[in-house]
Amino acid sequence: MARIPTGIPGFDELIEGGFIENDVILLIGGPGAGKSTFGAQYLYEGITSYYEPGVYITFEETPARIMRNMWRHGWDLERLTKEDKLRIVRADPIAYERYVTKNRDSGPNNEAGTSTIETVLRQIYASVQEIGARRLFIDSMTSLKISPDPVNVRYTILEFIKNIEGFDCTTLITSEVSNDQGHFSVEEYLAEGVICLKVFRIGGERIRAIEILKMRGTKHDEVLRPYVMTDNGIFVYPTQSVIGKEADVFSTELFNSRGTLDETELR
Ligand SMILES: Nc1ncnc2c1ncn2[C@@H]1O[C@H](COP(=O)(O)OP(=O)(O)O)[C@@H](O)[C@H]1O
Ligand SMILES: [Mg+2]
Repeated sequence: MARIPTGIPGFDELIEGGFIENDVILLIGGPGAGKSTFGAQYLYEGITSYYEPGVYITFEETPARIMRNMWRHGWDLERLTKEDKLRIVRADPIAYERYVTKNRDSGPNNEAGTSTIETVLRQIYASVQEIGARRLFIDSMTSLKISPDPVNVRYTILEFIKNIEGFDCTTLITSEVSNDQGHFSVEEYLAEGVICLKVFRIGGERIRAIEILKMRGTKHDEVLRPYVMTDNGIFVYPTQSVIGKEADVFSTELFNSRGTLDETELR
């Protein structure tokens, strides 16, 4: 069973060296937790250390913005794109728009959801084939949950993940869901692995911690491990633990302050 190292310092040793090849892994966490950075680092390391081409699918940010943000970590994604080792693809906003409109006009129905998913999947697969990608990063799943009907959402997510599994890529998908109420989302059940990035405060100090919620076929770490975000990307401390109570997890105050922080930090 081949392992796909993420290349993120300190992380791979928590999961026996890496993801199992061709698995679909979910990366969950609130805004500012570091999901996009984690994914970009996974692709960047894949290309530069393991010679595995990668595709970055973005539903929210533009490719230009991603390239600019990641440049801050010293990752020249533009060059990798020019060398056909990387594709950054904005998932089709027109199909997305059509889906929203359809749902608004005729109420929720599976047909509308399926056609959008098909368009997006075709777009992703074309990019994967173009450069022979081995790694895929999709940011984020939350954008596919626009139907007001929960049955429709579950069906869409199921369709999406089942199709992605056939793409012959080791895939990381982000989602902003959190399971802290004990309710697991459909994607958490479907994915082979679930990684959670948590940001909370202990005595006024911001603490970041990573937790492997599941990783099928892997004897994985079960402790909350601290991680930091630096100029060189994410670093995990695989032998340290986060001591103390998880105070104010995902507090509104924290997220509000992060919102403004993100804007100013982009410059
Ligand atoms: N060079 C850096 N040093 C420290 N923290 C950074 C650096 N660059 C980005 N960050 C942190 O990363 C956060 C954004 O990470 P991002 O991957 O976009 O999160 P998410 O995708 O989960 O919303 C910022 O809010 C900032 O706190
Ligand atoms: Mg993000």
